[in-house]
Amino acid sequence: MDNLESYYQSRFAARTQRIQASTIREILKLTTQPGFISFAGGLPAADLFPIERIAEATQRILQAHGAQALQYSTTEGYLPLREWVAGRMPGATPEHVQIVSGSQQGLDLIGKVFIDPGSKVLVEAPTYLGALSAFNPYEPEYISVGMDEEGLQLDELEAALKAHHFKFMYVLPTFQNPSGRLMGLERRKAIVELARKYQTPILEDDAYAELYFSGKPLPTLYALDQELGGGNVVYLSTSSKTLAPGLRVAWVVGPKPVIQKIVYAKQGADLHTPTLNQMLVYELVRDGEWFQAQIGKIRHTYQTRRTWMLEALQKYMPEDIGWIVPEGGMFFWLTAPAQLDSLELLKQAVEEKMAFVPGQPFYADGSGKNTLRLSYSSASHEQIAEGIKRLGRAVHKMLGREPVV
Ligand SMILES: Cc1ncc(COP(=O)(O)O)c(C=O)c1O
Repeated sequence: MDNLESYYQSRFAARTQRIQASTIREILKLTTQPGFISFAGGLPAADLFPIERIAEATQRILQAHGAQALQYSTTEGYLPLREWVAGRMPGATPEHVQIVSGSQQGLDLIGKVFIDPGSKVLVEAPTYLGALSAFNPYEPEYISVGMDEEGLQLDELEAALKAHHFKFMYVLPTFQNPSGRLMGLERRKAIVELARKYQTPILEDDAYAELYFSGKPLPTLYALDQELGGGNVVYLSTSSKTLAPGLRVAWVVGPKPVIQKIVYAKQGADLHTPTLNQMLVYELVRDGEWFQAQIGKIRHTYQTRRTWMLEALQKYMPEDIGWIVPEGGMFFWLTAPAQLDSLELLKQAVEEKMAFVPGQPFYADGSGKNTLRLSYSSASHEQIAEGIKRLGRAVHKMLGREPVV
């Protein structure tokens, strides 16, 4: 075995050519240096993880369920948890619910059961990078549809739906990762209607559903589709943003034939999501009062951090850098003048000891070079003020201008 590289190269599946190291992970490696400020990783705030509550609940579960909590269990998932999820989704019963090991696994399994090489998948531009990584090994052809302030542009969407046969369209209507956009009610209704008109299933990724800062939550695409008869939306959500991402407990809710296929795919992937973790999530969410208070803390903390970041951006960014002010979720999305390449900007920012995620990897069509994502969820006031100041310096340098400070 002299040259392991070539020994294995001739054996790897062709699809591995489409699996590449993610830009996010490469950047995260740099940010461990002392004094570095990173807004790159989309990490939920660790200071809000309910550690004591989890410790107590684990004790209670082990006392009540004993070895059953540590035994193999059904692929579909822990029934009380599936019942709880179904109770939140109009028209759903536990048979419509599959528990998955993170919504990331949900994306992979959906890719596995829907996508053949060359299958067309409609995506937003930009879209969640992790979904592209999950779908890529199944070799889809992406058709990207542009967005305005409210989300997918309807005329462009309709033209795409008319022109192609899609396996599904992947949509993130609520505080989209990466752009933070919230799709309004009228847009939601129009998209659900168009999808039904052109018989294109919607995959709705709702990871940030609970993280709104004010107002009332808007109905999910799943709920709106249900009002029209149902059956055209596969819905994904997770406990990662409200409890703790390390638990890896999430759910897919969808029409029975889709859930059935996902069950078989999951059997081959990991048999089931860890039994103890599913019981734990159920034990935490079933106390509605506590769970609402926990979500309330997260909303308040993220809103405060969002406002700090907004103030810093207003102070340190030149006028021709634009952003969407997020009303929930974890991200600011910045758009720079066309000549500013955010990958080049990142190199400059790293010299200033700060990091963000360049926007281009979030575009399946390779556009978005002048965009970038900043995460505020895990940062302190000091880090935000200093980090955005450093970004401001890098931006001014790249644009050949004098920085504000
Ligand atoms: C839009 C979106 N979907 C899915 C995920 C994956 O979440 P998890 O696998 O932790 O449920 C994330 C994580 O950041 C996300 O932002």
